[in-house]
Amino acid sequence: MSITYLATIMQTPRRHHLEVLRNVRIEVDDGGAMVSIEPVGAGAHADVVLSPTTVLLPGLVDTHIHAPQWPQLGTGLDLPLETWLFEHTFPLESKLTDPGFAAEVWPDLVATLLAHGTTTAVYYATISVETTTMLAETCATTGQRALVGRVAMDHPDGTPTWYRDHDAQAGLAASAESIEQIRALGSALVEPIITPRFAPACTDELLRGLGDLAASTGVRVQTHCSESDWEHGYAFERFAMSDTEALDGFGLIRDHTVLAHGDHLGDDDLSTLAASGAGVAHCPLSNAYFANAVFPARRALEAGVRVGLGTDVAGGAQPGLLTQCADAVTMSRLLDDGVDARLAADERGVAGSRISITDAFWMATVGGADLLGLPVGLLEVGRQFDAVAVDTARPGSPLRVWDGVDDDDRTFEKVVRLATPADITDVWVSGRRVAGTA
Ligand code: GUN
Ligand code: FE
Repeated sequence: MSITYLATIMQTPRRHHLEVLRNVRIEVDDGGAMVSIEPVGAGAHADVVLSPTTVLLPGLVDTHIHAPQWPQLGTGLDLPLETWLFEHTFPLESKLTDPGFAAEVWPDLVATLLAHGTTTAVYYATISVETTTMLAETCATTGQRALVGRVAMDHPDGTPTWYRDHDAQAGLAASAESIEQIRALGSALVEPIITPRFAPACTDELLRGLGDLAASTGVRVQTHCSESDWEHGYAFERFAMSDTEALDGFGLIRDHTVLAHGDHLGDDDLSTLAASGAGVAHCPLSNAYFANAVFPARRALEAGVRVGLGTDVAGGAQPGLLTQCADAVTMSRLLDDGVDARLAADERGVAGSRISITDAFWMATVGGADLLGLPVGLLEVGRQFDAVAVDTARPGSPLRVWDGVDDDDRTFEKVVRLATPADITDVWVSGRRVAGTA
């Protein structure tokens, strides 16, 4: 049996372009797919009628988040990436190989993300097959669409003795086992993703083996790439080529490969990504702390590279993707204008770098869906009904729409910049209601 919804939709089918579908009836079938979207007018009948002050958005796609870093959200961000990893992150991640602790953390994280409107998340879990499968199970039962990756890391230089795969063979076996366990859950929402942490944490043998595993299983790949000066430079020292070229040589740059950060990608790297169908998880807030540069989102998009948005929890200290939309715009302005006022205005920044709020929301929805190859990100017939209802009239909220002042563009910008979980009344994934205040 299908279910119908009456709502006003705001979404961005193309970059720069806000589409408003007023008072449409959306019919969703048993499989969670939208089968019709018809304009019907206010007051028409539907199974679920959203209030006239509510805006329906496509669900948000977080293309990069570290589940075991959830308990350190908001801490340690004054450290350089290498120090933060070894002193804060690896000790915490190793605690999340304990199923007892994972059973506390995973449901809290997934529920919080859903309440923020994150209907799809691309996770780094831990090096433990067991707690990685537990995360996939949590997503499946709670109803969040997810790609869940067991983290592979075996290189003595880039990992501590107490948190690494024993050797490349053990890492490959564990990654293959993780794929089988996640697939065996039989969830329509959750899939595995092959996850070499990043080049400094992986031996050549592991990287090559994971590339072969991707080819033989068809499973997507994620890793970090050219994130910071240190990581970008490390690749040239070890491989005598860029991070992207090295990953490509190991068979890891494939259609829908997700490269986190990518701030230091060169033009040749961008061409390689555009040609392969791989893309970047742009994590604007985290980049301000760890990347030593602003990711040139507009340059990458104009080069034909797929780009989605990511929180990079806990490198980014905010769990929701709407704040990342605002941050992506802010960072693009800093890149465009430059930041050192002692330089002349025309020498200060990289002109042509700024993006709009519609560009940012497009990355958070359509861009992420396209990067992953999932039928979400837009409320249109044939895609899955992953959607977020935002009330624009909650008493006490700074999100306010004023008659005679706010047109559609302004209303949309306010929703993206100002909505918090308190304003999100409903969240649906594949037609199932999974969060919301209503
Ligand atoms: N590079 C390798 N691991 C990590 C991580 O956990 N966070 C970030 N931001 N970069 C990484
Ligand atoms: Fe990351």
